[in-house]
Amino acid sequence: MNPEQIYPRKGKNNTESVYLKSVITDPSIIVGDFTFYNDFVNDPRDFEKNNVLYHYPLCNNERLVIGKYCSIACGAKFMFTGGNHTMKSISTYPFPIFPDEWGLDEWKCGQAWDNHGDIIIGNDVWIGYEAVIMQGVTIGDGAIIGTRALVTKDVPPYTIVGGSPAKVIRKRFDDETIKKLLEIKWWNWPSDKVKDNLQNIMNGVISE
Ligand SMILES: CC(C)(COP(=O)(O)OP(=O)(O)OC[C@H]1O[C@@H](n2cnc3c(N)ncnc32)[C@H](O)[C@@H]1OP(=O)(O)O)[C@@H](O)C(=O)NCCC(=O)NCCS
Repeated sequence: MNPEQIYPRKGKNNTESVYLKSVITDPSIIVGDFTFYNDFVNDPRDFEKNNVLYHYPLCNNERLVIGKYCSIACGAKFMFTGGNHTMKSISTYPFPIFPDEWGLDEWKCGQAWDNHGDIIIGNDVWIGYEAVIMQGVTIGDGAIIGTRALVTKDVPPYTIVGGSPAKVIRKRFDDETIKKLLEIKWWNWPSDKVKDNLQNIMNGVISE
């Protein structure tokens, strides 16, 4: 296991999936080990450009934080502040981003938008095909985001959501099991320990 490499898969179609951490250049996007992004339409190395939308951290100081061992499907998108024209103004027209046109002598681009803050994705989260995560949303460890979900609110750990706006479909496990999993936090183990326990993880056996 080498989370520092770009392509985790050898052989056929090996360039469709990337370890996201290895292709990110923007310091305001933070991604944990082994989280991968798959894209069969665009080059997955262009995730920052194609999937992290309206993200101008120099104006808005916002972050995308994604944990470890997440699976992000083709076309999933993360919508940031620059897509939220301010509703505090009389007009939603973003005058501050055209300062020369309107004689605004200071570059205060952040005034054009309402900022709802960071998007935080936990560990072992699976984000389905073309799902859209809105700014300010936190998704808990072990959650699943269904195909084409529009996620506008926080998602608790180990919860499956779907639809537009996304609603809870069900929990993945009973409350006791979820509690145990959140205590174990297997994703923080050294990768050798994950490998040693892989059969248990893959077969749903909960013991350390
Ligand atoms: C959300 C998901 C995990 C649910 O799986 P599941 O529990 O086996 O799904 P089921 O078919 O049993 O459906 C359960 C309910 O959720 C609904 N549902 C399923 N997928 C949904 C989705 N993407 N959006 C909205 N509702 C969905 C079903 O209509 C059903 O509703 P009901 O209980 O009112 O009848 C799955 O449908 C999904 O979207 N997976 C992501 C697939 C993907 O995008 N993969 C990309 C490659 S990694």
